[in-house]
Amino acid sequence: MLYRTANPLWNPWANDRRLIELYRRRCRQESEEMTCAAQAVDILKNKVVSGDTLLDAGCGGGYYFWSFETRNIPIEYFGLDYTPRMINLAREEICQKSVLPPQRFILGTIEDLDIQFDHIICFNVLTNSPHYALPLERLLLSTRKCILLRESLGEKLTIRYTSDENLDKDKRHMRVYHNTYPIEEVISFMEDYGFMVSSIKDLRTNDEVEMVCNIPHWWNILVGRRYT
Ligand SMILES: C[S@@+](CC[C@H](N)C(=O)[O-])C[C@H]1O[C@@H](n2cnc3c(N)ncnc32)[C@H](O)[C@@H]1O
Repeated sequence: MLYRTANPLWNPWANDRRLIELYRRRCRQESEEMTCAAQAVDILKNKVVSGDTLLDAGCGGGYYFWSFETRNIPIEYFGLDYTPRMINLAREEICQKSVLPPQRFILGTIEDLDIQFDHIICFNVLTNSPHYALPLERLLLSTRKCILLRESLGEKLTIRYTSDENLDKDKRHMRVYHNTYPIEEVISFMEDYGFMVSSIKDLRTNDEVEMVCNIPHWWNILVGRRYT
């Protein structure tokens, strides 16, 4: 695997101090667990056998680890993120309070992924990517058993690349993708790679639109189970 990282010139996650502090609180379990993290565990818990590996792709501070750990799900957790600050945060905060060694947090891009995991979760990541296809292809090729995605999915493709008022004051000229992808197309893309796919209602939003940065998002969870 090549360890490319995101350039801070265009990477919003390298330029948002408030977000880093929120992620730090999540790592310290000082803020409420994300509903979607709890839901991911609920979906996966009966699909996991002891010792299975799980990659959290675009893991941020790696706080989904706690959702598996506190429910005693016997997986070997790995996190991958292309933002050095996120991987440093995960290593500082999660590794110090758990038995996870720092190597479990990998600095690199999904697009370069060339190792396999039994399960992959990728939540709230591809919506903010230029397009879903290349990173999703890498994720599918790296999944042995089951993949879970949570992204904004609707009837048609909408690409939005807009400035973000939440970024650090001197970085608000930067633009961020907030895309919605056509759900039927994404499902058929996953099927092409040998997955049986089902769509599950996102419990946080209950099929209602959620405004993020004043942009409508329709969060859906797709579960893909490999059959070939
Ligand atoms: C919106 S945050 C979501 C973090 C976490 N998954 C969650 O749900 O709270 C997106 C994360 O994905 C990372 N990311 C985005 N695109 C990526 C890529 N192509 N490869 C690796 N990491 C990526 C960012 O650095 C950021 O930490």
